[in-house]
Amino acid sequence: MLEEIAKAKADASVQTMSATRKDRWYPQFHIAAEAGWINDPNGLSFFNDRYQVYFQHHPYSTEWGPMHWGHVSSADMVTWKHEPIALAPSMEEDKDGVFSGSAVVSDDGKELYAYYTGHRWRNGHNEDDGNLQVQMMATSTDGVHFEKHGMIVECPDGLIHFRDPKVWKEGDTWCMIFGACSPQMRGQVWLYTSDDMKKWQFYQVIYEDPNPDVFMLECPDMFRLGDKWVLSYCPMGPKPDGYMGRNGHNAGYVVGSWKLGQALHAETNYRLADWGHNYYAPQTFLAPDGRRVVFGWMGSFTTPLASQQEDGWSGQLTIPRVQTLDSQNRLVSTPIEELKQLRQDTVDFGAFTLRANENRVLLTDSDPIEVEAEFDLTNSSAERIGFNVHETPDGHHTFVCYDDLARRVVVDQRLAAHGNRGYRAAPFSGDTLRLRLFIDNGSVEVFVGDGQEVLTSFSFPSDGPRSLRLTAEAGEVAVTGLKIHRLRSIWQ
Ligand code: FRU
Repeated sequence: MLEEIAKAKADASVQTMSATRKDRWYPQFHIAAEAGWINDPNGLSFFNDRYQVYFQHHPYSTEWGPMHWGHVSSADMVTWKHEPIALAPSMEEDKDGVFSGSAVVSDDGKELYAYYTGHRWRNGHNEDDGNLQVQMMATSTDGVHFEKHGMIVECPDGLIHFRDPKVWKEGDTWCMIFGACSPQMRGQVWLYTSDDMKKWQFYQVIYEDPNPDVFMLECPDMFRLGDKWVLSYCPMGPKPDGYMGRNGHNAGYVVGSWKLGQALHAETNYRLADWGHNYYAPQTFLAPDGRRVVFGWMGSFTTPLASQQEDGWSGQLTIPRVQTLDSQNRLVSTPIEELKQLRQDTVDFGAFTLRANENRVLLTDSDPIEVEAEFDLTNSSAERIGFNVHETPDGHHTFVCYDDLARRVVVDQRLAAHGNRGYRAAPFSGDTLRLRLFIDNGSVEVFVGDGQEVLTSFSFPSDGPRSLRLTAEAGEVAVTGLKIHRLRSIWQ
């Protein structure tokens, strides 16, 4: 009853806030709440013939606050529908927040089991004395309405961070991992197991981040790709290291081998899953056709606060990406093929050469678009090959370029109109550079090659028409192909 009242109140608040929402940066082809704050994707699943995407949601303001699970669903991962709020804080154990978690379908296919962290502040109002976090369960027969069943895993004595359950089935055993801060203040992943999805026992600590600065691993996810296991997680506490870890919150992964009964044997170093300014808390799920699909949160917990918060909304999810491993055990992220259905009309620029220091406006009103570009680097002498994304009449823009000196693909916010400055850069080597840019009203996602590297960043343009310009700096650019597709809205 309390739960129903809390959800109805939250839905009403979203409706009220959305009536005055400003849309200058509101996404056209990314999942966002109709209003209010969102962070992590939760409960990703395919159930009741639909893709179910839940997310951390504060329906009362554009700032993080007592968390609910917002919800959208889709028959094809292309066109989405807003659903009522799925879970709200209403029990003693989740009174300060229904935190992140995952969802799996029962063996008979009839129920969706959602597992989430019930969150309470130990001192009743903030994190200063740590959190009291337990794992909770809720079930649904339609993916929209949930029945809460309360706590299924208690918080071990003394742990101040213990959250974000990710569940999957391994043989006959249900496995649940979550992130923990050990009493020695080390970031760990704990595994619990169950035979019936309801009673869970501690099994073992399967991973500890080797970096002693790391005290907690948020949103761990573990999945098999070929004969390897990927453990993806968001370490709290690491210091920036060269191009790595520059964000307030960073997401990465290790690849290794694992069997139930063993700890994860990491065979790679920790590597970023995405090199952009705004990518966090990714979660994967298995699509019915066997693809491992990930959504990440495009947002920021750190100051300066995201400019969109003035507009009545904050945070969006990335486009869905398929995860595979390449021969060097790097995680490759490729936009799902279905997104091509969003393309409405295409301008094909063909092949051409840009003279040294030439720049060319490709579009004068680049509303949401996808850009596919290919450059022959052996026949290019430019120091930087760049796109001015969201360039407005006052000159502000986000600069996306290939830097031939650094041999990196860069997203540079130095001339951004709003939001944080700074640049991020992903490594690239090779003779042919292929880039795919997904440019929405307030963001850019850059896929390098087939997605060997990705950069996801906010991009909040200034006033006026937004153009897209291609630039050649101190040398020529051999463009071997360039297409721009306008993308339609994902909302039903
Ligand atoms: C990560 C996170 C999770 C937590 C949730 C709370 O972004 O801090 O660890 O469950 O967000 O909103």
